[in-house]
Amino acid sequence: MAPGAPQRQSWGGELRRKTPRGSAFRHQPQATANHNFTGNSAQGRRDADLDVVVPVRSSVTSQRKEKDVKATDMLMTEHRLIERALDAMEGWLATLGPEGDSDDKAELARFVSFIRGFADAYHHSKEEDILFVAMGEHGFPREAGPISVMLHEHDLGRSFVSALNGLAQQPASWSDEDRGMLAHAVRELSTLLRQHIQKEDLVLYPMADARLPQSAQEEMFRRFQALEEQHTASGERQRLLALGDALIAAHIR
Ligand SMILES: [Fe+2]
Ligand SMILES: [Fe+2]
Repeated sequence: MAPGAPQRQSWGGELRRKTPRGSAFRHQPQATANHNFTGNSAQGRRDADLDVVVPVRSSVTSQRKEKDVKATDMLMTEHRLIERALDAMEGWLATLGPEGDSDDKAELARFVSFIRGFADAYHHSKEEDILFVAMGEHGFPREAGPISVMLHEHDLGRSFVSALNGLAQQPASWSDEDRGMLAHAVRELSTLLRQHIQKEDLVLYPMADARLPQSAQEEMFRRFQALEEQHTASGERQRLLALGDALIAAHIR
């Protein structure tokens, strides 16, 4: 690396992310203008809540043995990788030329595979099947309020990913209209997921941490670990992390 060149933050590196105070709802994406939380805000949160040391893949196992690591920390770690993959996808989009390129579809298919496999099938399933269920048992209805907003945004994200997958799989070269659809779907998906992640990091997860009793949090932690072990045993976790790393390396300078 040239002296003074920016250092690429790889997924395997240490991440220490300090989230800006009160920024959860500062920006409204085109796709999510009407999907904000109501009732709660990031205001009044303790500084400690905003200074989250996010464990990374190489150190997750040892850190999880510490008593102060919460189940939601595991989800926030995954958010960091999803954000980097979105950075990579936007970087890739910016490099596309005006003419059709056969490699474009293959690369788009790799992004779709990562987002479907990691962000949706793995991360969103942990939220929908474990976290939101636990929150539902402790006073957060699934049909209204923040959980319903999060579920709606997961579905909205799936619709953008389906559109991207259609473009990745179509036999014909991309037309100008296809390219417009591609740019629209990438930008909307990226904006949606970034704001969704902010809402979860700054509002939803702290609400869960505050409301769920210790026993429920420990059970959630155990279930997340079991899922991760299952994911590792199948080889899917390694495949997706390697794919995420490859996309980041290829498209973030
Ligand atoms: Fe989510
Ligand atoms: Fe999430």
